[in-house]
Amino acid sequence: MAVDLLLGLQWGDEGKGKIVDYLTKDYNIIARFQGGPNAGHTLEFDGIKHVLHTIPSGIFHKTAINVVGNGVVIDPVIFQKELDGLAKFDINFRDKLLISRKAHIILPTHRLLDAASETSKGKAKIGSTLKGIGPTYMDKTGRNGIRVGDLELDNWKEKYRQLANKHQALIEFYNVDVQYDLKELELQFFEAVEAIKKLKFIDSEEYLHQAQEENKTILAEGAQGSLLDIDFGTYPFVTSSNTTAAGACTGLGIAPNKIKNVYGIFKAYTTRVGSGPFPTELFDENGARMAKVGHEFGATTGRPRRCGWLDLVALKYAVQVNGVTELMMMKADVLSGFETLKVGVAYRYKGEEIKHLPYNIEAENLEPIYKEFSGWKEDITKLKNENDLPQTLKEYIKFIEDEVKVLIKIVSVGPDRTETIIKNQ
Ligand code: GDP
Ligand code: IMO
Ligand code: MG
Repeated sequence: MAVDLLLGLQWGDEGKGKIVDYLTKDYNIIARFQGGPNAGHTLEFDGIKHVLHTIPSGIFHKTAINVVGNGVVIDPVIFQKELDGLAKFDINFRDKLLISRKAHIILPTHRLLDAASETSKGKAKIGSTLKGIGPTYMDKTGRNGIRVGDLELDNWKEKYRQLANKHQALIEFYNVDVQYDLKELELQFFEAVEAIKKLKFIDSEEYLHQAQEENKTILAEGAQGSLLDIDFGTYPFVTSSNTTAAGACTGLGIAPNKIKNVYGIFKAYTTRVGSGPFPTELFDENGARMAKVGHEFGATTGRPRRCGWLDLVALKYAVQVNGVTELMMMKADVLSGFETLKVGVAYRYKGEEIKHLPYNIEAENLEPIYKEFSGWKEDITKLKNENDLPQTLKEYIKFIEDEVKVLIKIVSVGPDRTETIIKNQ
């Protein structure tokens, strides 16, 4: 059976958690393919709101198997906290949650290194979530990392000590003010490792190959968004993994020709948390209104998210890089009540009009060119049928579909699982 992918097309927080949870009823297996606890995926149903960081967003369903893939980096301390948070939901982790032996472990010193690196950058800092993501992927590609499968070996603590000692020397090299009590951090870490070891570790690529042979349905869940991709994002203001479709191949061991549907998620506007370029960012009351109505605060760090108009140039780019087959537009309800809406359709750059993201997207003279749309006044959160959507919203949707040349399959009108309109049935 072919595998479907679901991934974010902007700078993260598009609503991946909500839609993975919504779609899980149609899948046997949900598999996270990259990122780590820098992610915060929010799910809402039956009046409960839950934020997941490393655990896949299909975990609340009775039968779906949730796989943490080899491309993911795991912080045992955060993972254990996530498990504790789920304890009251009567979830059978032992059988439903499987972890790849090839996933890499975030050590306490990776987090400290992240902090030291960011502090040393001063004003040029990335705005990292400080979860140790960058340093852990650096040790992975540097061939120094500790993997989940290592935890099953007797000598893993020796390997740990060697690596932690090296990290401490590096932290000193940075020569910045980072306060820490490593003994205390290690105590928590070793305790959490023991808790994690009670879960099922698997050779996930093998497991997923077998599942494909048995015609099981698989949905691969991405974290972050395409504009945070290490290769195709707004480098260096990106995360340290491939967040795009190719990341699902390397992060799960799925062959490219086994991928069928690629679901691309975007907000009806744009947000970004952390530093880096954002051409359609708003600094006026419109931006403030999006932030307020959309509750735009990071699900992992609580930081305010920067807000702006939808950027179609960037969206088309993301659709192309990922081979998106179906779009899902989130948070349309947040735009209710705007008199007029704008969509970035091109940029003015060095005196010319361009329709692609230039290498130097940070350039001060890069200016979005907007098309204006009439807004709608209606509260749309209770709507269930696409025909009932306000005419002006239909026009907004149609314009995006025509420009991007991919249909929007879902229009999300609220955070709850039920606030989801299926289109083009
Ligand atoms: P993710 O990282 O892509 O899973 O997204 P986040 O969970 O970080 O951020 C999305 C936020 O928007 C969460 O607070 C969701 O509950 C919320 N959300 C998702 N879809 C909608 C929607 O259609 N309307 C509104 N108002 N909120 C939504
Ligand atoms: P989800 O999966 C939004 C951003 C950080 C920072 C940059 C690098 O919830 O969409 P890192 O900690 O990876 O070194 O940070 O990437 N970032 C995210 N922004 N949503 C996320 O995940 C993010 N994960 C990382 O804010 O700018
Ligand atoms: Mg998020």
